[in-house]
Amino acid sequence: MEATRHAAPVRRTFLACALALLAGACTTWPGAQRDADLIVVGAGIAGLAAALEAADAGARVVVLDANSVGGGHAVLAGGFSLVGTPLQAQKGYHDDPEVAIRDILAWGENADPWWVRRYVEGSRREVHDWLVARGVTFAMILPSAEDSVPRFHFPRGAAASAVLPMLREALGREPIAFAWNHEATRLLLGRGRVTGVVARDLRSGRMLTLRAPAVVIATGGFESNDQLVRTHWPTGQAVPQPLYVGSGEFATGGGLALATAAGAALTRLDRQLVYVTGMRNPRDPTGRRGLLVQNAAAIMVDQAGRRFVNEAAPSKAIESLVLSRSPPSYWLVFDAASRSQLMIRGGPWLDARTIAAEIMPDPALVKQADSLEARAGAAGLPPAAFAATVARYNESLAQGRDADFARFGPNVAGRLPPPLATPPYYAIELHPMTRKSMGGIAIDHDARALDEQQRPVPGLYAAGEATGVAGINGSHGGAGTFLGPSLLIGRIAGRTAAADVAPVAGAPPPVLPPAADPADARELAERIGAPRAGYWHFAQLHRLVLARNETCSTCHDESFPPAPATTRAQQLAQVRSCSRCH
Ligand SMILES: Cc1cc2nc3c(=O)[nH]c(=O)nc-3n(C[C@H](O)[C@H](O)[C@H](O)COP(=O)(O)OP(=O)(O)OC[C@H]3O[C@@H](n4cnc5c(N)ncnc54)[C@H](O)[C@@H]3O)c2cc1C
Ligand code: HEC
Ligand code: HEC
Repeated sequence: MEATRHAAPVRRTFLACALALLAGACTTWPGAQRDADLIVVGAGIAGLAAALEAADAGARVVVLDANSVGGGHAVLAGGFSLVGTPLQAQKGYHDDPEVAIRDILAWGENADPWWVRRYVEGSRREVHDWLVARGVTFAMILPSAEDSVPRFHFPRGAAASAVLPMLREALGREPIAFAWNHEATRLLLGRGRVTGVVARDLRSGRMLTLRAPAVVIATGGFESNDQLVRTHWPTGQAVPQPLYVGSGEFATGGGLALATAAGAALTRLDRQLVYVTGMRNPRDPTGRRGLLVQNAAAIMVDQAGRRFVNEAAPSKAIESLVLSRSPPSYWLVFDAASRSQLMIRGGPWLDARTIAAEIMPDPALVKQADSLEARAGAAGLPPAAFAATVARYNESLAQGRDADFARFGPNVAGRLPPPLATPPYYAIELHPMTRKSMGGIAIDHDARALDEQQRPVPGLYAAGEATGVAGINGSHGGAGTFLGPSLLIGRIAGRTAAADVAPVAGAPPPVLPPAADPADARELAERIGAPRAGYWHFAQLHRLVLARNETCSTCHDESFPPAPATTRAQQLAQVRSCSRCH
């Protein structure tokens, strides 16, 4: 099978390009063959924004993604930091760009001031209004420790309902073609510039070669790549053991390797947002993946059986403190009365029954006992010290004042947490867990990838978490300061790339069908049993379908048969089902 069989190459004639060169509009060499004007690697919020923006500018775009579906991390994410919105005004929150810039710079400590200003000044018009024009409704604003004015905006249905309309729009636009299950493995280089991408079809193993004068790397962060994470662990800190993986299956930093091989520089890789609320994911056979665990009524107790922090403090303070301790782990302690407040993020865990069935009875995850002393013993904590800690905490509650860590008291807003007095008692040991990259491919203010000498690498652009969202977060991730900046930088990259390459008029590239799977639907249970390359999401999804006993026709019909979606119409029909889980 021909490697480029899917896409019809468009050959620019020498004459056409020579004329364009005279007009200053042709930056490729005469006669160059291109399958598209632009290749976007990664169909997350940054890559989709880049593709839509470039298509608006007349470019023909091919989007590659290693996953079988689009949206990236945004389908699991929450909200956007936005400044000066109608919803803020409606709620009586008087926000102002200068205030927001001050807040973000103060929280991040060493954020890139140019990009912070660019984002804050653009967030209303270029992110908020752009999404609203696509039917997104912002429904709620949450306060956050770093925001002196509340600005953490949640769409109805969280970030999935912002990115899925982008995916739908891109799937509906002829000049944008998608190649799912295609992992970019190499950039083509020629005459000092990037000229295309080589990708592997993860299902068939076939290689696909696509030529284009511009490539946007939008592959997301590298927090699922244990080796990169450890190599770039912030200096002065020991790498925690265990260190769970808390970002996506495809967040392996592959795009960073593509960019460096083409001459681009990487920057600020040691700025990683690490959560300290990780518990081993019992569904992950590798034992590497973590789940984010919270219980607002719990106390945090160290290995000596003592509280060590205000459990209600801003996340940044708790993260810094825990990561500086040895070991950087602690116990989350709660009782039967606050058991229902145990929350685990992520699709399968939002249902309390799943937590009750798979987490609470697992003695390797949750230690449980009817008395405090016995529970301390079960967790390996010193019983006397631990019992004294809980007794003191309950006494402080009775007095309405936490003299040790100021979690509550006369000068602290909010309600008192409940005492820890109803057996059985529970303890879950929590560990650090990777989440978001705040460094990556170096870019200029137009999202062109830069080399070590700060010169643009011709033909190469980068956006989103693959750039560490341009350093906007400094060393401490803020609330909602990844999604919006990823979208904005994606739009900038798409616009710059389209302007640089002078799009070729003509037929758009055809939609690239995924490799057909010969197995049929009857073998579903068997097919999701063993992990197979290219079927990761298919297996995640249908495992839930089987567990929930859903019938196939809940989602599949003639427009979207239980088979690989090989046409644009089928892919669009498929997107109708996403919000059942995301
Ligand atoms: C659980 C969770 C919750 C979050 N909540 C928030 C929040 O509330 N607010 C906020 O602002 N941020 C949040 N974030 C962070 C935010 O979601 C991400 O920073 C943002 O979505 C990044 O978008 P992106 O397009 O740059 O990358 P991604 O969304 O990671 O997309 C990258 C895409 O590239 C593909 N890819 C990777 N390598 C290759 C390759 N070699 N070839 C082809 N394709 C490849 C991937 O499959 C993926 O689809 C959260 C993150 C997580 C994990
Ligand atoms: C039956 C439930 C279900 C449906 C329907 C579903 N997904 Fe998923 N999806 C999952 C699960 C489970 C995961 C694994 C992540 C998790 O633990 O939450 C996942 C993960 C993903 C991820 C990877 C996120 C990351 O980690 O980077 C993407 C992207 C995604 N889904 C997109 C889609 C799209 C697009 C659709 C619709 C075409 C869709 N999903 C439909 C269950 C579902
Ligand atoms: C909750 C919605 C939902 C239900 C219910 C559902 N599916 Fe799917 N199915 C999807 C989505 C979304 C995809 C595309 C996912 C992907 O490619 O990652 C898909 C894809 C498939 C595919 C194509 C896999 C490929 O090779 O690309 C098959 C086969 C399939 N489903 C079979 C079934 C069968 C059989 C059932 C009933 C037991 C079922 N599905 C129930 C949503 C659903």
